[in-house]
Amino acid sequence: MYTLFYEQTAMFCSVSKRRISSSSSYSCSLMSRTSFESSKSRRTYASTPDHRPLARRKRIIVAMTGATGAILGIKVLEALRRMNVETHLIVSKWADATIKYETDYAPATVRELADFAYTANNLAAPVSSGSFHTDGMIVVPCSIKSLAGIRTGYCSDLIARAADVILKERRKLVMVVRETPLSDIHLENMLSLTRSGAIMFPPVPAFYTRPDSVDGIIQQSVSRMLDMFDLDTGDFERWEGMKQK
Ligand SMILES: Cc1cc2nc3c(=O)[nH]c(=O)nc-3n(C[C@H](O)[C@H](O)[C@H](O)COP(=O)(O)O)c2cc1C
Repeated sequence: MYTLFYEQTAMFCSVSKRRISSSSSYSCSLMSRTSFESSKSRRTYASTPDHRPLARRKRIIVAMTGATGAILGIKVLEALRRMNVETHLIVSKWADATIKYETDYAPATVRELADFAYTANNLAAPVSSGSFHTDGMIVVPCSIKSLAGIRTGYCSDLIARAADVILKERRKLVMVVRETPLSDIHLENMLSLTRSGAIMFPPVPAFYTRPDSVDGIIQQSVSRMLDMFDLDTGDFERWEGMKQK
């Protein structure tokens, strides 16, 4: 119902509401933006006189789970924002905890980086349906628990459901699975999902760029993750063969 309402209203309105909480619903105004839009809002749709939507911005679902590496998800959101990609963010309860524990960001600030944000228990969100078009999904960081949920198709939260939808619709799913060392259970889950079309992208740093800071390692990793969606951040050095020393 949410999706139907969203798609119908999107045809007639310029919708660019930035955030949706678990309890809120979509709303839009023909002439003005919603009161809870921030000044950072960007227009999502334009419509023709006969109400057909024009080309939309690229749209990516970003899911953050409770594996260590919350900063990776945050930097992905910041990069997508710079590239004017529409983001739909899902944050699990334990991702909130790791954001607070590992970074200087408040969870609310992280949500503000996205165009739309949902709690993981909001199974009525648009990204819960395949009829809501997206260009893919990245789970970053991805916990072993969420990996297992997605592998089995056990859609107990919005992260697993949205990923399940991505797979059934044959869209792109990138999973930044973070654990070490890996058991056969982890590896089997990753192999199974790879065979289903997902891309396993553990956050393994490259050292050939001689990174001089953790920030450099994060930037390179994030850029390579977004390469998977044919999005070029343009802010890291690509391998062009060995240079003379
Ligand atoms: C500080 C911290 C770091 C964690 N790091 C990892 C990790 O790297 N990988 C992992 O699979 N789980 C990790 N966990 C455990 C997950 O948070 C836990 O399994 C949780 O149930 C995941 O749920 P979610 O996938 O719904 O976020 C960590 C937990 C905490 C508190």
